[in-house]
Amino acid sequence: MHIHQQFYGVTLTGATASLFTMKNDNGMTVSITDFGGTIVNLITPDRNGKMLDVVMGYDSLRDYETADGYLGALVGRVANRIAGGRFELDDEVYDKLYINDGENHLHGGKVSMSYVVWGVREFATDDNACRLVLTYHSPNGDEGYPGNLDVTVTYTLDNNNALSIRYEAVTDKATPLNLTNHAYFNLGGYASGSILGHELWVDAESFLVTDAALIPTGEVRPVDGTPMDFRTAKPIGRDFFADYAPLRLAGGYDHCFNFTNWKNTAGGDPILRAILRDPVSGRRMEVLTNQPSVQFYSANFLKNPLFPLKGGLQQRTQTAVCLETQNMSGSVRHQGNPDFTDCILRPGDAFDYTTVYRFSAD
Ligand code: GAL
Repeated sequence: MHIHQQFYGVTLTGATASLFTMKNDNGMTVSITDFGGTIVNLITPDRNGKMLDVVMGYDSLRDYETADGYLGALVGRVANRIAGGRFELDDEVYDKLYINDGENHLHGGKVSMSYVVWGVREFATDDNACRLVLTYHSPNGDEGYPGNLDVTVTYTLDNNNALSIRYEAVTDKATPLNLTNHAYFNLGGYASGSILGHELWVDAESFLVTDAALIPTGEVRPVDGTPMDFRTAKPIGRDFFADYAPLRLAGGYDHCFNFTNWKNTAGGDPILRAILRDPVSGRRMEVLTNQPSVQFYSANFLKNPLFPLKGGLQQRTQTAVCLETQNMSGSVRHQGNPDFTDCILRPGDAFDYTTVYRFSAD
């Protein structure tokens, strides 16, 4: 079990980025850069012990800095979209959020948390785990959001092949907050092609319906009897091409799935909420979290020809799965609606959520 730091590059604004590589006693290896707190590599064994990298990414810091897609990055202040880049909070209107997705605000804005070098509070190893503790200070007015916000993210790799991500934050003025990580997984190895054969189980009884711009309309729809039902594991491709408006509007899966009984479980112990499995390699990823929902995204926009992936691989849609555990992003515009999460962090509140990605093979 060890972690080491190496030089990763210098950003366009002159900041130095490092790459931290953790390796556990089974040989599982995770590399994370302090630029965006981005997971760059995640190497795990298949059922025969063959090690492959199962996350999409780029070959250089410059690509992470200039490309879109948020590959492997930490995302905030508010992951996903805020309609019109405006919201109201405590009788104040905030309407200067950066517009970067049609007419809407996406993933916290222009620089946000994904395109900046985070502080490194600590990187350390003990008998059972390696950890990397990253910090980010987002000043009052940052990307149009209120309050001085201090975020701490702790990545931990243990000998059970579990990578855990703990998100903590405090603010001095009420602000919406919804933090996640945007890793793109392909359990056959990042270069192995379509994920439509991956099997997925998600412990969600409902999902958020969106409009064509992928903005939640306010409707929370039961998954029962729809292609969105993953309560029994099934291949992602089984219903992918169904003539079902939410799938056709989004070009695939790109929806917030609300976990069963989320109102009573959010903030408690992380519980098993999703399992992704590649039947070819046998690799399996369990997702445990105490967040209330997950944005399941089948990489429908992963097609930018200008930014080849690691090793020169062309981007292709549906070659990765994102399971972005989070608050419901639509909550910012649906405050007070009991079907949505409370997404406001207030002074004195402790924002504290943990998501675990645990790997095995069968
Ligand atoms: C996802 C989002 C997608 C797309 C992607 C980034 O979280 O659901 O619609 O914006 O990020 O390309």
